[in-house]
Amino acid sequence: MSSSFEPRSDIDLSVPSAARAYDYFLDGAHNFAVDRAFAHQVLDIAPSVPAVAKLNRSFLRRVVKFCLDQGIRQFLDLGSGIPTVGNVHEIVQQVDPRARVVYVDYEPVAYAHARQLLADNPFATIVQADIRDPETVLGHAETRRLIDFAEPVALLMVGVMLFISDDDRPGELIAAYRRRLVPGSFLAISHIASELAAPELQAEVARLVEAYAAADEHVYVRTHQEILGWFDDGTTLVEPGLVCLPDWRPDDQVEQANVARPLGYGGVARVDRTGG
Ligand SMILES: C[S@@+](CC[C@H](N)C(=O)[O-])C[C@H]1O[C@@H](n2cnc3c(N)ncnc32)[C@H](O)[C@@H]1O
Repeated sequence: MSSSFEPRSDIDLSVPSAARAYDYFLDGAHNFAVDRAFAHQVLDIAPSVPAVAKLNRSFLRRVVKFCLDQGIRQFLDLGSGIPTVGNVHEIVQQVDPRARVVYVDYEPVAYAHARQLLADNPFATIVQADIRDPETVLGHAETRRLIDFAEPVALLMVGVMLFISDDDRPGELIAAYRRRLVPGSFLAISHIASELAAPELQAEVARLVEAYAAADEHVYVRTHQEILGWFDDGTTLVEPGLVCLPDWRPDDQVEQANVARPLGYGGVARVDRTGG
């Protein structure tokens, strides 16, 4: 762990944080012994998790670069976690130091660490909110300070919809955000999957889901068809569509032969019309 990362006194370090364990899977520096112990319990039952996390993060990096190439300078990152290892604001602000990023996460630990990391950054912030409440997220003073919804926005829902149950109507939730975006905006979604995986990998995913359920954190595995349905008729998927994570506009940093390849889908759509 980097010596520059000091725990805040208001964070309970006896309890592992899922956000910091995810950071550990990404080889990040924002985790503590309690998180690493938890991460190793997960690794025992589902050794592919770090590979999926890295494929997901790599997809996020390529999506952000794609959106920047398309002229996007505003990013709303829902379920952002700790903004570390290849974080959105760093990629974005390397291209345009005045480009704006609003992270949203409900986890107090991710929020506290992000606040610390972004304290001196006038163009990036974090909102602590539940993404299932779009009115709160979109109406929050920090969101409104940095995001101008009259201009195109990249809405990032990367590695987060797997935590949203069917009872929370994920399609309607995504549409509630999408309706606020002007044409020329982009919607990016990635999600855990297992339908294309070999039986032993499917069993790993099932064990992971069970372990999270036992810890009262629910993870939902969805099919290509279900996720595709979330890109509603106000949007058009950009090439190559909704595909396995390493297949989405790969660059030379992407490892095609990755064992975790069938364990996640990602796609990006261009918004065609406002409202609907
Ligand atoms: C696996 S991490 C993904 C981080 C990042 N988006 C990425 O892809 O690398 C999922 C994050 O979503 C957050 N999250 C899950 N459900 C949420 C909700 N309903 N509202 C806000 N954040 C949520 C978790 O706290 C966690 O930090």
